[in-house]
Amino acid sequence: MSINGAVLLNACFVLQELQQAYEAESSATGRPQLMLTAAVAAGKLTIDAGYEIAEIARYLDFISVMTYDFHGTWESVTGHNSPLYQWSQETGAQTYLNTNYSMTYWKNQGAPVEKLRMGFATYGRTFQLSSTESGLGAPTSGPASAGIYTREAGFWSYYEVCSFLQGTSTQWIQDQKVPYATKGGQWVGFDNKESFNTKVTYLKDNMFGGAFVWSLDLDDFTGQFCGLGKYPLISELKKLLNSSSAPPAEGSTAETPLATGPTAGGSTAESPPATGPTAGGCTAPSAKNPPAETSPAVPRQYCEDRIDGIYPNPLDNKSFFLCSAGRQFVQPCPAGTIYKMSCKCCDWP
Ligand SMILES: *[C@@H]1O[C@H](CO)[C@@H](O)[C@H](O)[C@H]1NC(C)=O
Repeated sequence: MSINGAVLLNACFVLQELQQAYEAESSATGRPQLMLTAAVAAGKLTIDAGYEIAEIARYLDFISVMTYDFHGTWESVTGHNSPLYQWSQETGAQTYLNTNYSMTYWKNQGAPVEKLRMGFATYGRTFQLSSTESGLGAPTSGPASAGIYTREAGFWSYYEVCSFLQGTSTQWIQDQKVPYATKGGQWVGFDNKESFNTKVTYLKDNMFGGAFVWSLDLDDFTGQFCGLGKYPLISELKKLLNSSSAPPAEGSTAETPLATGPTAGGSTAESPPATGPTAGGCTAPSAKNPPAETSPAVPRQYCEDRIDGIYPNPLDNKSFFLCSAGRQFVQPCPAGTIYKMSCKCCDWP
């Protein structure tokens, strides 16, 4: 069973019940117990507003941290979709918007490292430049034109990025260890084999439990756009994870699971680690340390009279609201997906 992060808000009790149900089913049928996994928010503000990390971690076999969508056209300057580290010119809450910060934060809040999976993006987020500046933090006026195939303004699949790269060169953001490219007033921050390589080294050095990808169909799955064979990024990721160079102690990543796409870590017949309490462990829902609001585009009063939880964004179905103690946060849906009331989650249109 895989759960979208949005539904996890104050959901410790639900997880506890699910885990007990799985346990009962397993002992009744003699079959291996089902795994319980969740894709969770990477942003610190969303984490603070929504999760009791140590509690939910006890009931989950894997926690897939969505370490992408850190920057995009909801902002007014260029920024990378999935930086590994912070940019030296960032200050305040900006410094939370990177993979290293999120993974470290989930770990330090009490999630066991071996349960934490790092998200890898096979797409980039785009901007239209509004001046002659073209580096990181350059002023923008919105998204670049929609991709020919994905047809949604603001992001390009990796295979669309490859087409864009013809006639321009790939720039490397030293601080963040990820590439971007710019041409004709358009700008895209994306991932390539080099950034995947650096990120896997980071993942192994920190002994995180594995990786997952958003998403299979955004890689160059036919191999005809990038000239790097079929599924160049996902193949590279698999190779890097399986390579035994610089293995961590206790070898938890030697056979790192590679989960993919929206169904990452779904029901499987594997046995979970024999850990996790069977009773207790959940406290009453609370909005702890409500963080500062960060979303200027949203009507301020939206969350004022609403109970804590997840709500559709009336202005944009590619994001949703998180209300916590009357404060509101906008959480973008992963590339290509929209928010759906029916599942209270981001899903393919
Ligand atoms: C990674 O994150 C940790 C915790 O936030 C921080 O102390 C460390 O300096 C970061 N590393 C880099 C290279 O930014």
